[in-house]
Amino acid sequence: MSKFYLTTAIDYANGDPHIGHAYEKIGADAIARYFRMRGDEVHFCIGMDEHGQKVAQTAAELGRTPQEQVDEVAERFQAMWAALNISNDQFMRTTDRQHKAGVRALIKRIFDNNPDDFYEKSYEGRYCVGCESFKPDSEIVDDKCVLHPTRTLEWVTERNWFFRLSKYEGFLRRLITERKEFLRPDSRRNEMLALLDQGLEDISASRSRFTWGVPFPSPLSNGETQTMYVWFDALPNYLTATGFPDAPYKERWPAQLHVVGKDINRFHSIVWPALLQAAEVTLPEQVWVHGFVNFAGERFSKSSGVKLDMQEAISRYGADALRYFLLREVPFDTDGNFSWERFEERYNSDLANSLGNLSSRVTAMVEKFCAGVVPAGSANEIDRADAEDLAKYHAAMDGSRGYLLHEALHHVFACAYRGNEYVQLSKPWALAKAGDDESMARLQQVLAALIRNIARQAVLLYPFMPLKSQALWTSLGGPGQVSSQCFASLALLDVTGWKVSKGESLFPKAGAEESGG
Ligand code: MSP
Repeated sequence: MSKFYLTTAIDYANGDPHIGHAYEKIGADAIARYFRMRGDEVHFCIGMDEHGQKVAQTAAELGRTPQEQVDEVAERFQAMWAALNISNDQFMRTTDRQHKAGVRALIKRIFDNNPDDFYEKSYEGRYCVGCESFKPDSEIVDDKCVLHPTRTLEWVTERNWFFRLSKYEGFLRRLITERKEFLRPDSRRNEMLALLDQGLEDISASRSRFTWGVPFPSPLSNGETQTMYVWFDALPNYLTATGFPDAPYKERWPAQLHVVGKDINRFHSIVWPALLQAAEVTLPEQVWVHGFVNFAGERFSKSSGVKLDMQEAISRYGADALRYFLLREVPFDTDGNFSWERFEERYNSDLANSLGNLSSRVTAMVEKFCAGVVPAGSANEIDRADAEDLAKYHAAMDGSRGYLLHEALHHVFACAYRGNEYVQLSKPWALAKAGDDESMARLQQVLAALIRNIARQAVLLYPFMPLKSQALWTSLGGPGQVSSQCFASLALLDVTGWKVSKGESLFPKAGAEESGG
């Protein structure tokens, strides 16, 4: 059994969860569930980024203390993740005492192992509170940060601790070019190589103007204690979640996978490995960078004002349908769009008409022609064709080519289309009507093949739609939990004797009154 420690970005605690946050958590959840089914020892960690100027500002605007703000927001995020069936094993909050001690320990290790890596410097620059970072001229248009055009850039003059990021340029270039799997997909790796070509500047590691954060472990030479720059507090959450610096942390660390969005690639594939290298702590194995979910071409975020009601997105067709739609529609390696029209189209064509219809027709025929008991049948052309999709599904999910979740789903639905086609071609109702021995033997073969075809889909869909896949599995009469099925034995799946029960429609067709929006 291999260990598989995966994390997502920790979300800023300055607003409600939105579809972009949800997309990332759902994608990582599908990966976590897939690896659990493979038999790996998965630990899946998500959480909240609760310090920093942005959170403190929001709390002040709302007339709350920062702690009240983050406690309330953490509850709302956790309720959202529960509603979306996110199977995280841990929920990190950067205000946890243990995390704060771990961050300080990490910084102290850098001071011990590479004392020159931190130095004091006076600095001036334009700071974007939205990004929580200083912005170079190239990322400023009309005096605004390109990512947060509704925020005003702050001119900041301070004396801070600086981290000597520039020292790690060669190391990072080797890491990203030689360890090809460290940063994926390739488009994101190329972006970081281009950034390295421009040269790295040292970055400030502490702030004097506000105190909502972890105190930097070492005072400035004038005796002033500063607050840790929020990214230096946030990135180490992946490490402190394992209990760092206490020795057993190595049982879980290093992480096998960090799943993050494209806007924070630089922090994860440049700053984070440099910090770990400076502290002489093992690097994570891979950073997977997903794209953005846009709405009519615009990005969702608190500052852009582009909104979608999350409760509605869940309640219209259910959490599993939302999970499916997002991961099928928005490629996990690039950007994509959310629209209600596309959601409805996919819901009707993929879920209701293709998968839902196939399963209800086939279970109804097993009930009608075989008294509800799946007959024996041997592997045929359907199993052989499905096997090819199965192999491609795994190649898209197992990390060997990255995490191409949309492709994996494409291959599951190729099996559903094949099943529907096979129903049309083999006409089980005509075989039953003919009623002779040969037709009846053929009918049994056909229905058994169809149940095997649908049962495989139920298993493959579990990472994406955990509740619907269980309901499907149960309706086929599959034994136990779909989640405890083993991929390895799927090719040999024997469905003989399963008792089907048609039950309620898995995906009731969306009515006209629900359309639009
Ligand atoms: N707090 C930092 C991350 C620290 S990780 C050590 C942060 N928070 S965030 O709330 O702004 O974003 C959290 C995650 O959601 C990021 O990976 C970000 O890329 C992702 N998304 C935010 N909006 C998104 C979309 N519209 N679409 C897809 N993901 C996006 O950054």
